[in-house]
Amino acid sequence: MQFGSLQLNSNLFLSPLAGYTNLPFRLTLREVGGLDLCTTDLVNARSLLEKNPKALKLIETCPADRPLAVQLFGSVPEEMRDAAAYLESIGISSVDINMGCPVRKVCKVGGGSAMMTEMDKTAALVKGMVDAVKIPVTAKMRLGWDDDNLTAPDLARVLEDAGVSAIFVHGRTREQGFGGRVNLAGIRAVVKAVKHIPVIGNGDVTTPQAAKMMFNDTGCAGVSIGRGAFYNPWIFRHAAHYVTTGELLPEPSFDERLRVMCRHLDLMIEVFGEEHGCRMFRKIGPWYSKRFGPANDFNKRIVRLTNKAEFYELLDNYRQWRAQFVDENGNLHARYQPPPMVASFMQEPGVAQRQSIPVPKGPVEVW
Ligand SMILES: Cc1cc2nc3c(=O)[nH]c(=O)nc-3n(C[C@H](O)[C@H](O)[C@H](O)COP(=O)(O)O)c2cc1C
Repeated sequence: MQFGSLQLNSNLFLSPLAGYTNLPFRLTLREVGGLDLCTTDLVNARSLLEKNPKALKLIETCPADRPLAVQLFGSVPEEMRDAAAYLESIGISSVDINMGCPVRKVCKVGGGSAMMTEMDKTAALVKGMVDAVKIPVTAKMRLGWDDDNLTAPDLARVLEDAGVSAIFVHGRTREQGFGGRVNLAGIRAVVKAVKHIPVIGNGDVTTPQAAKMMFNDTGCAGVSIGRGAFYNPWIFRHAAHYVTTGELLPEPSFDERLRVMCRHLDLMIEVFGEEHGCRMFRKIGPWYSKRFGPANDFNKRIVRLTNKAEFYELLDNYRQWRAQFVDENGNLHARYQPPPMVASFMQEPGVAQRQSIPVPKGPVEVW
């Protein structure tokens, strides 16, 4: 897998998730394995040029966090160009452009020739960035505004001509939000539309089988995973293994889940400080506990976490509480029923059969 001159060791990617794809999360996933290029949360190009502290925190990285793409958004060509050049100058491997739904205004006024005008503008902005840097410039888009305006294949073609090195496509329309199912045929149309560059399929991949289905049904060169990564940090390692060997690796043990969760908290504290890191961990701990089996005791306490000592105390208490549901071999009693979301991860083989994956709170409607 190659993006321009950037050689990648995996064709599985971490999708940008604003509020989540920070340095500690990326490092945790990288350590679990199966992943190479990760993307940051989206970053406003102007804020970056103004060295806004929040924007700089979003691009915080370290040598173990390579290769890294920063996702930029903005509509002023000079700002996007200068932000890309700045990112290159500080050693970022690749720049991704958030296209959200590229034709919003156009679709509102009915499409037609105006659509090509908008695409021309987009292409010029992209070309300005491509010409300014040597690192790859990629674009992330949805399929279009709605089912009657599936503009992604046209846009992908135009962007390839403008010089992007790869296209990430989330197989839903803007109108769909996060509802319904991801449209694999829509992604396939984008794959077919481009000449040479890799198209990375994205949407609803939470199991190794779903990753394989995304490859098989769309012909995409890579698969990008967002929500599936925070519900299952092992998804990349397991999907990489399954796609290459056809063999499913066993689910991680309870102790392994705890080990990775503790490492994630340590990294949060390292990067954000103890107080803020623990506060942020209040929304992270419950992702891990979805796979612990009975977790009421843990969930009640993790959402009030304030410091590291308290975390280890609550973990000790939780282990004791959980022991009442576990047999002498450490297996959960057969009478334990996993919550419906976990059951659906375990049983549903492919992306096309998947019920909706929960979307965290936040302004996610444009992604
Ligand atoms: C909480 C949240 C934040 C997101 N933030 C971004 C973002 O910053 N940039 C972007 O291009 N997409 C963003 N997305 C969309 C994801 O990158 C991805 O396209 C989408 O979630 C579908 O993939 P998934 O089913 O693997 O999660 C976000 C999605 C969620 C749920």
